[in-house]
Amino acid sequence: MRVAGQEYLTIRLEGTSVYMIDQNLLPFSFSVKECKTWEDTCLAIRNMTVRGAGAIGAAAGFAMAQALIASDDPDEAKERIRSTRPTARDLFHAVEVVFEAGRVSVQSAVEAAQALARANIEAAKNIGKYGEPLIADGSRILTHCNAGWLGFVDYGSALSPVYFAHRGGKSVFVYADETRPRSQGARLTAWELANEGIEHCIVPDNAGAYLMLKSMVDLVIVGADRIAANGDVANKIGTFEKAIVAKHFGIPFFVAAPLSTFDLSTAHGNDIVIEERSSDEVNYQSGPDQEGRIHTIRVSNPGSDAFNPAFDVTPAEFISGIITEKGIIKPDIGMIASLFR
Ligand code: MRU
Repeated sequence: MRVAGQEYLTIRLEGTSVYMIDQNLLPFSFSVKECKTWEDTCLAIRNMTVRGAGAIGAAAGFAMAQALIASDDPDEAKERIRSTRPTARDLFHAVEVVFEAGRVSVQSAVEAAQALARANIEAAKNIGKYGEPLIADGSRILTHCNAGWLGFVDYGSALSPVYFAHRGGKSVFVYADETRPRSQGARLTAWELANEGIEHCIVPDNAGAYLMLKSMVDLVIVGADRIAANGDVANKIGTFEKAIVAKHFGIPFFVAAPLSTFDLSTAHGNDIVIEERSSDEVNYQSGPDQEGRIHTIRVSNPGSDAFNPAFDVTPAEFISGIITEKGIIKPDIGMIASLFR
């Protein structure tokens, strides 16, 4: 990805340190954070310095490799990395692959972690190629959360087809849901789209039905954190609402995700563990003042509690198709099983 004319990777392992773009500081300042130990990398996953299904998968694989390089107890490290965030499948997949490679040697573990991160990039690129034809010239696309190159190295999942369409000369317009409470759409997707020179605007989370009623949306594309064997998709809270409304208006609703996000051991979306995060994320917001000083302010009734589920599950029947690195499939159990044969 290019940021202000320079090439960056969302996350990388170099020597014994993991370097990641600090997503908590964006879009107000850009900096790359160094995590020197696997515990630092765990904390960065937990506090969302790095976030997004693919990016935390890469981070988790790197953390496992760091633990093995440091000769720390691999079983303990594995459990602690697995406990950082519960919903995104890529995190668990990456820890497992690197842990198993570590049985051979530390070098194998490092190579496995690097290979996973590279595979992410290839998968994201192919998702873009397969998804691009869905986007007609002049399309207006609604997306939710951030499933761009910050969330999925190095093209994104949901945004990869959009980037391919734009780079190929098509005119596209993106509505970025703000994605309360952490505002990944308003802060990160909007920043990415601006960097790519793609026309866009931020819309309130609850504007989807209005936009669709007014025929302002041609297509919805979102990412995924975990896809059950039956095609149900866990993604950022609020995704299911968009899918219901899109179905009501007959607007195509696509999910973009690599095979590493599918979890064949989870039969049904109801079995997916949904992360609950702190009520502070709902009750407080942070941002810079005119001088660039960051402040955190309360935005809700003092004393009221808040419930903060981070994901919801969209049943397969609401999904027009899943764009993967192997092509677009219908979200049904047979099609999904055939992808893994
Ligand atoms: O809680 P986050 O920001 O890590 O959310 C996960 C996501 O990035 C989205 O749900 C996204 O659509 C998944 S694909 C990058």
